[in-house]
Amino acid sequence: MDQPCSYEELRACLHDIARVNRLTFAHRPTLSWLREVVAARPAGAAPLRVVDVGCGYGDTLRMVDAWAAKQGVTVELTGIDLNEDAIRAAREATPATQRIEWVVGDALSQDGMGDADVIMCTLLTHHLDDAQVVRFVRWMEETAQCGWFINDLHRQAVPYHLFRLLARFTRWHRFVKHDGPVSIRRSFVAEEWKSFCASAGVGSGAVSIREYRPARLCVCRTK
Ligand SMILES: C[S@@+](CC[C@H](N)C(=O)[O-])C[C@H]1O[C@@H](n2cnc3c(N)ncnc32)[C@H](O)[C@@H]1O
Repeated sequence: MDQPCSYEELRACLHDIARVNRLTFAHRPTLSWLREVVAARPAGAAPLRVVDVGCGYGDTLRMVDAWAAKQGVTVELTGIDLNEDAIRAAREATPATQRIEWVVGDALSQDGMGDADVIMCTLLTHHLDDAQVVRFVRWMEETAQCGWFINDLHRQAVPYHLFRLLARFTRWHRFVKHDGPVSIRRSFVAEEWKSFCASAGVGSGAVSIREYRPARLCVCRTK
């Protein structure tokens, strides 16, 4: 959300963004990549340290936690967000049975972010300008031991018009209805991601850039 708003409004917006993620099957690519990372690790490896940057309401990590518990995979989960109200909302939405650390932090300063095996983000990078995206990718490349995964919107006509159509028939918060198309216009296409990765020192052979319909473009790096 780019507008200043109360805690209650921010929480309502983040909650609705989580619904958009579910409705558009946006978590599938992230989870499917995580499955591959886990499968490639040796049996009995230390807990997989997963960091979600720009975690918002925290639904991605709660989903990862539920998946890991079902699969018997040991994980240490940390959600980071610039906005302390987002961190409060994520914490309040997390049942006591889910052990997830929620931390206020900036994707661009990385203060106190520590080590990670996996760094992921959902709907974060379109909030950054080009130079900031490059800095963020470079930091993930240097920090994540097993790899990183960017899940964001795809600047294409279909997601843009689909979102506007869906927004007409749903009761999503008015900020979400307004920001959705703006976010799609701010998001990137594959050629831009190739250039960002190259500028960050990650060669084109090392990353996979893939469209996931209806609305996502994901950039993935497995080490
Ligand atoms: C559109 S929301 C997405 C939230 C969540 N990842 C999801 O998919 O539901 C973007 C989130 O990124 C956070 N954010 C924006 N810039 C950031 C930065 N530089 N560092 C950390 N978080 C940031 C915002 O506060 C917001 O909670």
